[in-house]
Amino acid sequence: MATTVPTTPTDAPLTADATVHVGSDAAREWWRDAVIYQVYPRSFADGDGDGIGDIPGITARLDHLRTLGIDAVWLSPFYRSPQKDAGYDVADYRDVDPLFGTLADFDEMLAGAHERGMRVIVDLVPNHTSDQHAWFQQALAAAPGSPERARYIFRDGRGPAGDEPPNNWQSIFGGAAWTRLEASSTADGDAFDEPNPQWYLHLFDSSQPDLDWNHPEVRAEFEDVLRFWLDKGVDGFRVDVAHGMVKADGLPDWHGHVSMVEGSSGDDEQPTDPGAPEDGSTGAGNQGPMFDQDGVHEIYRAWHRVLAEYEGDRCLVAEAWVEPLSRLARYVRPDEMHQAFNFSFLTTAWDAAALRRVVAASYRANDEVGAPTTWVLSNHDVVRHATRLGLPTAGVRPNGVFATDPQPDEELGLRRARAASLLMLGMPGSAYLYQGEELGLPEHTTLPNEVRQDPGHFRTDGAEAGRDGCRVPLPWEAAAAGYGFGPTGDTWLPQPESYRRYAADTQYGVAGSTFEMYRAALAVRRAEGLGHGGLTWLDPWVDSPDVVAFTNRGVVVVANLRSAPVPLPDGEVLLASGELAGTTLPADTTVWLRA
Ligand code: NOJ
Ligand code: MG
Repeated sequence: MATTVPTTPTDAPLTADATVHVGSDAAREWWRDAVIYQVYPRSFADGDGDGIGDIPGITARLDHLRTLGIDAVWLSPFYRSPQKDAGYDVADYRDVDPLFGTLADFDEMLAGAHERGMRVIVDLVPNHTSDQHAWFQQALAAAPGSPERARYIFRDGRGPAGDEPPNNWQSIFGGAAWTRLEASSTADGDAFDEPNPQWYLHLFDSSQPDLDWNHPEVRAEFEDVLRFWLDKGVDGFRVDVAHGMVKADGLPDWHGHVSMVEGSSGDDEQPTDPGAPEDGSTGAGNQGPMFDQDGVHEIYRAWHRVLAEYEGDRCLVAEAWVEPLSRLARYVRPDEMHQAFNFSFLTTAWDAAALRRVVAASYRANDEVGAPTTWVLSNHDVVRHATRLGLPTAGVRPNGVFATDPQPDEELGLRRARAASLLMLGMPGSAYLYQGEELGLPEHTTLPNEVRQDPGHFRTDGAEAGRDGCRVPLPWEAAAAGYGFGPTGDTWLPQPESYRRYAADTQYGVAGSTFEMYRAALAVRRAEGLGHGGLTWLDPWVDSPDVVAFTNRGVVVVANLRSAPVPLPDGEVLLASGELAGTTLPADTTVWLRA
């Protein structure tokens, strides 16, 4: 698109405090402005036809990623695992699960990505292991108080018979966070009797026992795991539950609420709450004695030192549901991690003032510690933003959508998702994309409950739909069985019929397709250096309830979030998320212009 439009809303000078972030052309590490694409291996592409995505499937589709123009790939876990939580239950941190291939397949995929100029980040799951991990099996076969038990968090129960959990903590997936051992069991091949059985802590599923990070062996083991993958040549790690590894001394009771995605839902039709916190808090923080304890930071300082021994700016990205943003910024101090997902941004309603508030607070907090902001709109744990932004009710971020729930407006959701993505990609910092968002893919919102696999669905007795709807296998070819997910047409979760319309092959080279919009956005972002630019709010929209507008290195980004069209500023249109109406910007549309 290259239209020049004459109308300008104002000639008023920018006010100084409209500048919320100053850019820099100084030499920098690659991750500071990288666009990183999340591959969820079981749902990306299936190489062997068993209906489950795998590493050879990823290798075969690397050119899709190169064409898109991303800088790096983050792979969710592919390690040996009984798959009780889709691989976030690791039984062996140094091997590939046969479901996904072999270590040789991994090496080939890594080399293929590097040859194409893309880096690779792998997932590290240090808060808990699988109950099938050798350490946990040894702990089950050992006595209370033994060194084997000391690597996990075993405790005697409360009450005279020890049959009440050691404290009142709830699992993030629902139910108690403690499970009691059997009085007699066969663990690690040995029959074992424990007349007064202990309990073990699991912040997630009972198959995911929490490690005790006060134990030096735990610390040493994970440093070694880091080295194993660094030696293979990976470029970094996404750290699972980075805010949960250290628990408050004494494991005190907690009367607050825990959930995967914290806080209440925003209502995208509600006027913004004028009293909303200026620190950008949106309810995206997990709280309580199991989260964000000061002791976690020493772990990241140690890991930072390990990574620093390797050349090539390897990085650590924190999955930490922590608020306020100033508290999250502590994870990315100069000697700790390098990035932390900005979930406050992800959980912000489609509301101009709320978005400006969270964006400003993010730069304020991260600039203070010299870290980039790390934007994200979708991942494998939340309802895809193409659906979230089209939901009819106040619940813009439920934990999944049931077939019996009010259904999203697909067209509105896609329109807003494209606008939200262009807004995000226009901002300085790093950005994460979740596989399929470059196709505009919606959530599967009518999955039959019988096929659901998320432990969060079962542990809440079916009260929460869970995360399966955002994990449905990708559509690659509209005309093929399983929309080209793999050679047999099998898919581990059923795909909705609508996925035909989103298949990658219907979008390649098609002007106006979501894939081509993302591709163009990444190209402009790179050419203009937007990732390391600055951000200044643009008049007359500095306080607008309808519009978010800013300049970044001479590129003007305007997002219209409300129903009435607004006049476009002067400039050459570089990109737009939807059709422009003459010299106006329609509702739920973002435009990039050269001023
Ligand atoms: C966060 C991961 O993203 C999620 O998928 C997983 O269930 C939990 N951590 C537990 O590992
Ligand atoms: Mg397979």
